[in-house]
Amino acid sequence: MEVLIRQDAEAVGHAVADRIEAEVRRANGAPLTLGLATGSSPVTAYTELIRRHREESLSFAGVTVFMLDEYVGLPAEHPQSYHRFIRENFTDHVDIDDARVFSPRGDAPDAAAEARRYDEAIREAGGVDLQVLGIGATGHIGFNEPGSSLVSRTRVKTLVQKTVQDNARFFDSADEVPIHVLTQGVGTILDARAIVLAASGENKAEAIHQMVEGPISARWTGTALQQHANVLAVVDEAAASKLELADYFRFVEANRADVPGAQATA
Ligand code: F6R
Repeated sequence: MEVLIRQDAEAVGHAVADRIEAEVRRANGAPLTLGLATGSSPVTAYTELIRRHREESLSFAGVTVFMLDEYVGLPAEHPQSYHRFIRENFTDHVDIDDARVFSPRGDAPDAAAEARRYDEAIREAGGVDLQVLGIGATGHIGFNEPGSSLVSRTRVKTLVQKTVQDNARFFDSADEVPIHVLTQGVGTILDARAIVLAASGENKAEAIHQMVEGPISARWTGTALQQHANVLAVVDEAAASKLELADYFRFVEANRADVPGAQATA
């Protein structure tokens, strides 16, 4: 895994935006599928991409979006739905057609069938070119909470109490946070051709340590990313504070110019 350490969440956002921009510019208007996460972690990147769209004519023409997850029970238009979140925080502000933004339907009458349909829809669309991820304090990617199968597909999961509390800030109270979600599985996420993950804050330090340096385990589902050959993790100093390899990662980055492309992918 390639790890970049940045000063703060703002700088993390810039580096993640750089990674996304590189992919978008390479596609140059040809079809490109981005997998997008919600939550706080990628928002600084989305804000920066909106700025680049407005001020540097970065175009997202040709981009299709598949969201990572959605709350069971919430229709796409619900103020707290993840579909609404991504529109308000990113896609409505750039040239991505709303009809090209797909998410699991939280209000589908049969959530399990919806999960299977969604997994298939991603495959039929040709898969995800670049998946944007955050990571939970419990180590989850998507909402693959501890104990999730590392080869799981999109399905219904139950949030752990800690995640419900962490997500309560987006609602009026913790009681309103749905405890069930439709989430891409770990196996679904690993199918993406490339992955970029953003993390900031001290409360992510243990999850980042486990994800990068821990043994691969269902206890910390982010550790499954070690099995993917093209993952860039961008973390701030606080989230990197438990990394034993932090100095090595800084050294790798500082010396990259000597051999262009060195560890461009892990
Ligand atoms: C969101 C998602 C989650 C979040 C994680 C971190 O779509 O799948 O895995 O990325 O819970 O959330 P924040 O960024 O709010 O700390």
